[in-house]
Amino acid sequence: MRRFLDLADLERDEVVALLELARRLEKHPEPQALAGKILGLVFFNPSLRTLASFQAGMARLGGSSFVITPGQGTWQLETRLGVEMSGAAAEHVREGIPVLASYCDALGIRAFADGKDLKSDLAETTFNAMAALVDKPLVNLESAMNHPCQALADWKTMDDLGVPRDGRFVLSWVYHPRALPLAVPSAAVHMAAYRGMEVIVLRPDGFALPPEIMERARRAAALSGGSVRETTDREDALAGANIVYAKEWGATACYGNAEGDAGLRKALTSWCVRNDWFARTATDCRLMHCLPVRRNTAVADEVLDSPRSAVQHEAYNRLVVQMAVLYKLLKGM
Ligand code: CP
Repeated sequence: MRRFLDLADLERDEVVALLELARRLEKHPEPQALAGKILGLVFFNPSLRTLASFQAGMARLGGSSFVITPGQGTWQLETRLGVEMSGAAAEHVREGIPVLASYCDALGIRAFADGKDLKSDLAETTFNAMAALVDKPLVNLESAMNHPCQALADWKTMDDLGVPRDGRFVLSWVYHPRALPLAVPSAAVHMAAYRGMEVIVLRPDGFALPPEIMERARRAAALSGGSVRETTDREDALAGANIVYAKEWGATACYGNAEGDAGLRKALTSWCVRNDWFARTATDCRLMHCLPVRRNTAVADEVLDSPRSAVQHEAYNRLVVQMAVLYKLLKGM
């Protein structure tokens, strides 16, 4: 494996093998496995889990890491191609990224969606332009439409919790005061379909996931015996659910239009996961969320503080699965 950019790049049995490696490293630590190796981490956007878990994971395997947050103690990096650089950015990624790659053995990049042009974000224009500049093993730390590390951790979390492979996975839109990117919902819907689950995207009108994302998930479902559909009917979606995966995202009906988005979402504050959402789910239905989460806005205290909540376990699994990814990228075994 040379790159970890998208779970869809891996055959299903390769995902299962990666999760087996993660379990092995969890049970039998290898503190010298990556001795002498250096991981570079470039964050164009904020992070808590991804940053800390990659640094911790690299250290636990005997390697080291450096972190660059462009514009915060380092030069601001321009990502757009062909622009006259008369603004705040002192350096272009076309120079900066290859320089950073030359200092390390593997590089990770986080670059969220611009959130203005859906077609460009679906094409991963910014991330792919940077990926093309890297001649070392590369990890997607979250791009416009993908978060493969989160998806892999979520798959392992469901395995750990004994969630049936063909169980019902409800990805539910939840309220947030502003539009958030589509990366996690896109990755989650694909991951659950690839796992073989009955996937239901529950969302209000105006918040449908793009057809390209739904089609990609359906292709994964076809490979694994799962299914994918969407609905606005909460009762229908939640009946018998094994997982409620809460996530905030922007209105796709008016992508890039902050005013239009705000107009749609202002009537949707009731989309906060509360105990009564679980009235008709499986009794052992779990709540998942990638974090960060806004308490009592997206998910209520009564759910986050209950045994239903798997959010801490998901976050812990980020460390475990990313160690497997680094091991595979840098040791090749
Ligand atoms: N879930 C996740 O990627 O968390 P961070 O944004 O804190 O890295």
